[in-house]
Amino acid sequence: MITVILLMVLLRASAEMGVHIRSNYGQLVTSSTLQWVPGEDGTRPQNAVVGAHEIVEVVPIVDMTEDTHMEQQVKVPVYVCRARHNGVWISGQLRSDQSFCSISLLGVASTSNRYEVLENVDEGARLQWVPWDRFSRIPTGAVAGGETYVARRVVEDGEESNKDAGPGVLGFTHHLGKLDPKDGLGRITIINQNNEEQDFTDGEVLVETEPVRYELTGLKFNLWRKRLMRRLVTLTNNTLRNGAATVAVNVDMALAYDSEYSLYWGQGKAILKGLPTTVRLANGTLVGEIKWGLPEVEERKDLFSVEYFLEPGTAVNVTLRGNHTESEVPYSGKLVAVYEDGSTKARDIEGSRREVAMLDVRPEFSAVYYIRNLTLVPTTTTTTTTTTTTTTTTTTTTEMSVETPAVAETRRNKTPIGSNAKGENSSIQSDEASSLKKERGATPEGIGSNSGDRAGLGAALLLSIAITLLHRIT
Ligand SMILES: *[C@@H]1O[C@H](CO)[C@@H](O)[C@H](O)[C@H]1NC(C)=O
Ligand SMILES: *[C@@H]1O[C@H](CO)[C@@H](O)[C@H](O)[C@H]1NC(C)=O
Ligand SMILES: *[C@@H]1O[C@H](CO)[C@@H](O)[C@H](O)[C@H]1NC(C)=O
Ligand SMILES: *[C@@H]1O[C@H](CO)[C@@H](O)[C@H](O)[C@H]1NC(C)=O
Ligand SMILES: *[C@@H]1O[C@H](CO)[C@@H](O)[C@H](O)[C@H]1NC(C)=O
Ligand SMILES: *[C@@H]1O[C@H](CO)[C@@H](O)[C@H](O)[C@H]1NC(C)=O
Repeated sequence: MITVILLMVLLRASAEMGVHIRSNYGQLVTSSTLQWVPGEDGTRPQNAVVGAHEIVEVVPIVDMTEDTHMEQQVKVPVYVCRARHNGVWISGQLRSDQSFCSISLLGVASTSNRYEVLENVDEGARLQWVPWDRFSRIPTGAVAGGETYVARRVVEDGEESNKDAGPGVLGFTHHLGKLDPKDGLGRITIINQNNEEQDFTDGEVLVETEPVRYELTGLKFNLWRKRLMRRLVTLTNNTLRNGAATVAVNVDMALAYDSEYSLYWGQGKAILKGLPTTVRLANGTLVGEIKWGLPEVEERKDLFSVEYFLEPGTAVNVTLRGNHTESEVPYSGKLVAVYEDGSTKARDIEGSRREVAMLDVRPEFSAVYYIRNLTLVPTTTTTTTTTTTTTTTTTTTTEMSVETPAVAETRRNKTPIGSNAKGENSSIQSDEASSLKKERGATPEGIGSNSGDRAGLGAALLLSIAITLLHRIT
């Protein structure tokens, strides 16, 4: 309960800080990689978005070889901020040497000591300043400061605006402000160095380009910190019977059971949810293709085939058990964002891979008993051989259908069984191998038959290798 409330508070808090960008269709959508971070009296977050520079010093460069006059500018950043006025957010500028966000409001410049600064979380966003004039459309990905967009205007050399910039300031590269698309054919309003408002019909708009897909590469698992939880569960049970009067036969059966498979690579900070992502190990091996941040959940139907050699008039009970296994492994890797134009942007990430699967599925056989009077069949020596295979049919997948890597497990050992005078302990499987194979189209019903009508097992069993258990009674 407390967690839920906390979560809601967190969600609400983060929703307020969400940055809206213009979608393909013109509506505003929330950016996954940008946020507005509250600040006051000049504070700002680590990855505050820089929109312009303030020129604080000009150093002449003395070049001995050529008789030219060159100079180098010393600059400090000006950040993108926004301040609220009468409930409306308006974007403006936060200068390094000032403790307030300057915005333009109804024709006048206004300053605010409490404001929000645009942050590029983990430098995950690809930002560009895109030219705009009143005859062009607002570009897709334009970053909104409220009802208007974050914009700027270049300050040309020798422009009035670069004079009289105040003590210690020689000029600016740009001035920041807003683009109001509803003001006539659109208008960019900025605050100049004297904290005065100026209007323009052209300028630049801040645009975030979102990637079209991700590549998670150089994947390394931290197996030391792997967590594993296994719970033995009974999947199904049945009885294998040899009803024939005279011959001993191999009785086989396909046991059907349901299981759940899920895989989740985590969400991580400042990463777009749902983007197609390829996952590769450090050596380049492809691990899978996923949709980032969405857990894959599959309801699976599996078949497990068993076979038992039975004397006439006898039967054996079989119980199928498996370990419901939940594992969590921390990993590290490089997340490469790939953009529509083919360019890429990489950063290191850490996460945790969670997987839920049914593993170690194997049958347990009871003692062999007489069908007629249910008393146990006496045994002296037993040799058993077991081969098992499961066939998997995935019936439902949520969100997406992804090929899951095959899980295979093989164990092989032989245990000769000694005589048991009372015949109570006659069933042991001593050689067992199991593997899980994912195949589409298998029939999920359990099918039982005697070897006499083996053909009746049909196509379903063609997919699976039978478990053979030779059980000799002496
Ligand atoms: C066998 O399965 C039936 C349902 O299919 C269940 O009622 C019964 O308890 C199970 N028996 C054992 C020994 O697990
Ligand atoms: C990459 O490593 C994995 C396990 O670390 C291994 O199974 C796989 O065969 C390797 N692939 C190549 C191409 O070396
Ligand atoms: C299930 O996991 C446990 C360890 O937790 C293991 O000892 C056991 O052999 C597993 N069960 C099967 C059926 O393999
Ligand atoms: C086999 O199962 C039946 C019911 O399913 C039960 O009555 C019987 O005791 C079982 N026999 C053995 C040997 O486990
Ligand atoms: C049960 O029946 C079998 C044959 O069907 C017989 O060989 C066996 O002796 C019987 N056991 C008892 C205790 O009646
Ligand atoms: C089966 O054998 C095991 C040891 O091999 C023993 O612990 C167990 O009690 C036996 N079960 C029966 C029903 O005799």
